[in-house]
Amino acid sequence: MSSQSIMPAAQSELTPDLARAIVARAEQISGIRIDAGKLEFVRLRVGRRLAALSLDSFEGYLQVLSRDSAGEEVRHLVEALTTHTTSFFREHRHYDWLEQEGIDRLLEGRDRGPFVVWSAAASIGAELWSAGMILAERNDKGHGPTDWQLIGTDISERILQRATAATFAEDEITGITPSRAARFLLRSRKLRDRNGCPIYRIAPDLRARARFQRVNLQDLKGLAPFSADIAFLRNVLIYFDEDGRNRVVSNVAGRLRPGGILFTGHAEPLGPHPMLETVRPTIYRKV
Ligand SMILES: C[S@@+](CC[C@H](N)C(=O)[O-])C[C@H]1O[C@@H](n2cnc3c(N)ncnc32)[C@H](O)[C@@H]1O
Repeated sequence: MSSQSIMPAAQSELTPDLARAIVARAEQISGIRIDAGKLEFVRLRVGRRLAALSLDSFEGYLQVLSRDSAGEEVRHLVEALTTHTTSFFREHRHYDWLEQEGIDRLLEGRDRGPFVVWSAAASIGAELWSAGMILAERNDKGHGPTDWQLIGTDISERILQRATAATFAEDEITGITPSRAARFLLRSRKLRDRNGCPIYRIAPDLRARARFQRVNLQDLKGLAPFSADIAFLRNVLIYFDEDGRNRVVSNVAGRLRPGGILFTGHAEPLGPHPMLETVRPTIYRKV
């Protein structure tokens, strides 16, 4: 992006009222709560939309939002305001638990249907691929579920394009051990990232198990029925207010099969919930 295109946004004034009005539009659609008091953050993120639309004032941008009956611009706004930080095997205790006891428990007394892992706020997919690697390793050793699927959802279309491409730069794969990298990553002979380092792609057998879809966790509209054995709902609840959080937890728990496991982020422990019992802090079982 040229410095010229950034200038108008940087120069226009963002008052607290304007910030609140703009952020409220994103909140209505996604349920996420952005602290409109963080003016610098809002100015920076929404400023990108002003630059993209060649607008020179936040007031003008608010007018664009008020004419946006198709919701196209609000989607861009939500993209601009959301954060997609993630990594492979992030919060590794969840994966350790799955490897050491979780998957065995899930497989006990299970009858039919594919074993489904759902990453509900998938970002670029690192969480989903990490779980996929654990299942594939069990398959390789002959004692995992044979019929299994990986489902990744997120509200951001842009981030899901990256998830679907399943390509990662060298500094994004640091959480993957060398033996897993050898089994699950293909190093591109031609492609390089912006630092000139190689690009890696998830192996085809894992990619063949996965699908990604844009879904708003507030309503799950458009998400075909499935019963998940494992749902990751991590590092997204922090963006919702209490009502939104309760709604999202119930929506996700409602898609777990009885006995299925829900993981939340380590900073997002849940209070009592009628559909869930605590296995360990941030690990819950559907009753
Ligand atoms: C910080 S990332 C977390 C990624 C991953 N779960 C992890 O813990 O590493 C949060 C993700 O939640 C997504 N998100 C925010 N609001 C959402 C909503 N209402 N519905 C679905 N996804 C949402 C964002 O687009 C972002 O990719």
